[in-house]
Amino acid sequence: MVEFALPANSRIAVGKRVSHAKGAKRTKTFKIYRWNPEDGQTPRVDSYEIDLDKCGPMVLDALIHIKNDIDSTLTFRRSCREGICGSCAMNIDGTNTLACLKPIDDVAGDVKIYPLPHMKVVKDLVPDLNQIYAQYAAIKPWLQTQSAPPPDRERLQSPEERARLDGLYECILCFCCSTSCPSYWWNGDRYLGPAVLLQAYRWIADSRDEMAGERLDDLEDPFRLYRCHTIMNCTKTCPKGLNPAKAIAEIKKLMIARR
Ligand code: SF4
Ligand code: SF4
Ligand code: FES
Repeated sequence: MVEFALPANSRIAVGKRVSHAKGAKRTKTFKIYRWNPEDGQTPRVDSYEIDLDKCGPMVLDALIHIKNDIDSTLTFRRSCREGICGSCAMNIDGTNTLACLKPIDDVAGDVKIYPLPHMKVVKDLVPDLNQIYAQYAAIKPWLQTQSAPPPDRERLQSPEERARLDGLYECILCFCCSTSCPSYWWNGDRYLGPAVLLQAYRWIADSRDEMAGERLDDLEDPFRLYRCHTIMNCTKTCPKGLNPAKAIAEIKKLMIARR
């Protein structure tokens, strides 16, 4: 019988345990994925017990506390701490979300934190976003026109035309949705995934854009668009409450309408 064995470095080891909660009244343990490409070690999960009275209420506050006061080697992205920049996206308690919007108190028991799933890891909680940003660039996420602009003012929209962008323009490109999508896990090199397709629809739906036909031509492909099987993980996980699956369905409807 054929036997398969995973490479040794595919197994996640138990890492160090650090307690930084002496005399604390309220404590919480954070179990955090660690991997450093430069040390030749397998990935591990380190545990940090912290005093909740020494940090703010969100998971990002705890990560910053751990980095500043316990272990400066812990690596993660963050910028705005307001749910606007999208850079603190990670898998917390089994769900892709933004660390700055996730209250620590929402997690029962230990807080388990991993990088966004099915992405290459740069280090610790930092995923490699090169491929997904190349896919984003491929949909030309900017206004494209052929007609000359009005000489004395901007290209205007009616309130109704502007309202068509609601639920689309708010996307912060955190990629929680794409990295929760099984189709993107298996075909991420060819399927664009929900975040990029939502962005594609944002420009198709913009009344000022004059290249909707070309944009649809570029998506007319068995992989780029049609790997979406309406599993809806994307919509369930979006920390901004958006509905990428609906945007994908709208693109598919436009494809049918123009046949
Ligand atoms: S609805 Fe489509 S894009 Fe969203 S998770 Fe499912 S397959 Fe992926
Ligand atoms: S649709 Fe939501 S989950 Fe997906 S990238 Fe945009 S904000 Fe993030
Ligand atoms: S730090 Fe900007 S979205 Fe969390």
